[in-house]
Amino acid sequence: MTDDRAPSAPAADGFPPAPGSHDPEALRRRALDALLTARARTATLTDSVEDGELTAQHSPLMSPLVWDLAHIGNQEEQWLLRAVGGRQALRPEIDGLYDAFEHPRSARPSLPLLAPAEARTYASDVRGRALDILEAAPLHEGGRPLERAGFAFGMIAQHEQQHDETMLITHQLRSGPAALTAPAPPDPTDAGSLPGEVLVPAGPFTMGTSAEPWALDNERPAHRREVAAFHLDTSPVTCGAYQRFMADGGYTDPRWWAPEGWDMVREHGLTAPLFWHRDAGQWLRRRFGVTEPVPEDEPVLHVSWYEADAYARWAGRRLPTESEWEKAARHDPATGRSLRYPWGDTDPTPEHANLGQRHLRPARAGAYPAGRAPSGAGQLIGDVWEWTSSDFLPYPGFVAFPYREYSDVFFGPGHKVLRGGSFAVDQVACRGTFRNWDLPVRRQIFSGFRTARDA
Ligand code: AVJ
Ligand code: FE
Repeated sequence: MTDDRAPSAPAADGFPPAPGSHDPEALRRRALDALLTARARTATLTDSVEDGELTAQHSPLMSPLVWDLAHIGNQEEQWLLRAVGGRQALRPEIDGLYDAFEHPRSARPSLPLLAPAEARTYASDVRGRALDILEAAPLHEGGRPLERAGFAFGMIAQHEQQHDETMLITHQLRSGPAALTAPAPPDPTDAGSLPGEVLVPAGPFTMGTSAEPWALDNERPAHRREVAAFHLDTSPVTCGAYQRFMADGGYTDPRWWAPEGWDMVREHGLTAPLFWHRDAGQWLRRRFGVTEPVPEDEPVLHVSWYEADAYARWAGRRLPTESEWEKAARHDPATGRSLRYPWGDTDPTPEHANLGQRHLRPARAGAYPAGRAPSGAGQLIGDVWEWTSSDFLPYPGFVAFPYREYSDVFFGPGHKVLRGGSFAVDQVACRGTFRNWDLPVRRQIFSGFRTARDA
């Protein structure tokens, strides 16, 4: 635990730094690639529907897509053009419109937002200038914290990808025929022979990171945690298992539910995950404009923390803590150190994990054998975000960087931590240390879970 100020400390966690993270030219290529990948996805998400659908509000839970588009440009302008590049504001009058703290999502459609064509032009004008700044930025060690190891560029690529996931949620909530399609993810090869759970023996491990150059503030610094022995599901809980909870009266018995969860069930009349409905004795789901039978062995998706918590109690188990999840995902007993990803220190490939909206659904339980952790658990990265039992709290030595509104203002008991990323998140915004959080009632997000028990 050395440098806790943010980017690009040497390998204090004991893993080699990300490939090329000490070579400014490699970092520049990595940043350029991450920015271009994000923009290609943003274009797909915003060009696949008519302009009228960009300005519409598909759900009061979400912004109009055109807000996300200009907000992506505005964050890039603030951090890459102004903070790093020292440029003047292009359109100072619009900053307030795209400040997520000034206007709740439900109020955004009635703001004088940039129209689709203007928003596209604005985002691409900003991008042109940002790439000029990237070309000349000194990314070396010892530079300004924002530029060091290309942090601001990596942060903005992650920010755009996070909004690409948000926009994909909006696509899932919109009605009408499918606007997006994608091939099915790979099938499992040896699912039948997988044990239901793995044992993670007691002992300390290194949680968080001080070495990953683009890790965000809440993932820092690396620190030791003691974790008692526990068992963890090898794969996320499937729709088939979840249907057994439903069939056993899961949604009608208050015994399984936290009090606030039971209130939610009664207030909204919940009987199943979001987007499911029953027809002729069969459970169907709507997924990106297509209605299909619920697949038995796919990880369950679109459940709230309360539903995950209730299922676990019904199963005689519990949700894993955030430290348990990270230890199962990163700890390598052979070396005693924590890996960047479950499979090791190398960046994800399509063989390791279902990421990046390549497939618009989770892969069946048991897929991605190359992505398994030393603990034996699989599909920790990608597929579905996994609820943990933990509140979103700062690590010891946390320092807000570069702005308090990314993490600091959300710390506390109101938000639960989700880990591991979903099929909707890009690899630049997903790693073994990455922390997501949300309210325990949320279920439009790409959320699932796995369960644990004390050993
Ligand atoms: C980390 C996913 C909770 O979308 O609310 C985007 C990411 N922060 N713009 C969110 C974020 C600012 C954030 N989450
Ligand atoms: Fe944002």
